[in-house]
Amino acid sequence: MNIDQKTNLYGVVGHPIGHTLGPTMHNAALAASGLNAVYLAFDVQDVEGLVRGMRAFGIRGMSVTIPHKSAVIPFLDQVDELAREIGAVNTISNKEGCLIGYNTDAMGALLALEAKTLVSGKRCLIVGAGGAARAIGFMLRGKGVPLRIANRSSERGAALARDLGCSFVPLSDVEQTNADLLINTTSVGMSPHTEESPVPDRILREGMTVMDIVYNPLETRLLRTANQRGCVTVDGLGMFVHQGAEQFRLWTGLEAPIETMSQAVRKVLHRGSS
Ligand code: ATR
Repeated sequence: MNIDQKTNLYGVVGHPIGHTLGPTMHNAALAASGLNAVYLAFDVQDVEGLVRGMRAFGIRGMSVTIPHKSAVIPFLDQVDELAREIGAVNTISNKEGCLIGYNTDAMGALLALEAKTLVSGKRCLIVGAGGAARAIGFMLRGKGVPLRIANRSSERGAALARDLGCSFVPLSDVEQTNADLLINTTSVGMSPHTEESPVPDRILREGMTVMDIVYNPLETRLLRTANQRGCVTVDGLGMFVHQGAEQFRLWTGLEAPIETMSQAVRKVLHRGSS
């Protein structure tokens, strides 16, 4: 590609930023769409500074990751309604100097799920109560899906359940739940602890849909067992790519080349596991 005076800049900010696959995915999308633009990773701790930097350098769009998703909100000009409700922004779009915050994690999860199953009418158990659980919970609530939260720490789990207007169950009592859709939003099962699962195997029943937001490895212990038990499974790559595709659409106004993005990330993940 040609980098010149007209090249537009996009990026991801977080701390630490070491393992992000954002540049792999977004540079593949920008190149495939023939855009004169690059996407870089920035390890930044100063949240106000990152917003000022975006304005000063005319950076067109930024992905925001841990730990800045909530802290960045007061510095933006506008925040989309869903992102405000969730209390987290993972995407900033710079529209001629006006910085607008969005949350595409929620939509990414829904699109990944809907590519495999219908969510309406399913009873959903969300395992975890962090930022990802909040985003997914508010999105599914908006779709009228009956929810339940299971979490290791009761305080955090009960607080999210209260915000969502649903019930809470301690993770240790998860066997008493009867869900059609189970979503793991915790980091349990992520490399290097690949033999761990957030729930006991016996709660996975044939016909259930099981989604894991962990994408490293692609087939977590939870998903492997769910597959063996006849569940429909949705891996974390789907959510990651769909949330990225939403970002691409917000930034460029173009449809995202989803297959190219997915292949680029898959290639790096396969390289890492071989
Ligand atoms: P994110 O914003 O990415 O969702 P987070 O805010 O750190 O991440 O939330 C992590 C979630 O994973 C929490 O629900 C956490 O449970 P606690 O609230 O009890 O801390 C859950 N989690 C992390 N490690 C876990 C483990 N080993 N077993 C069970 N739950 C775990």
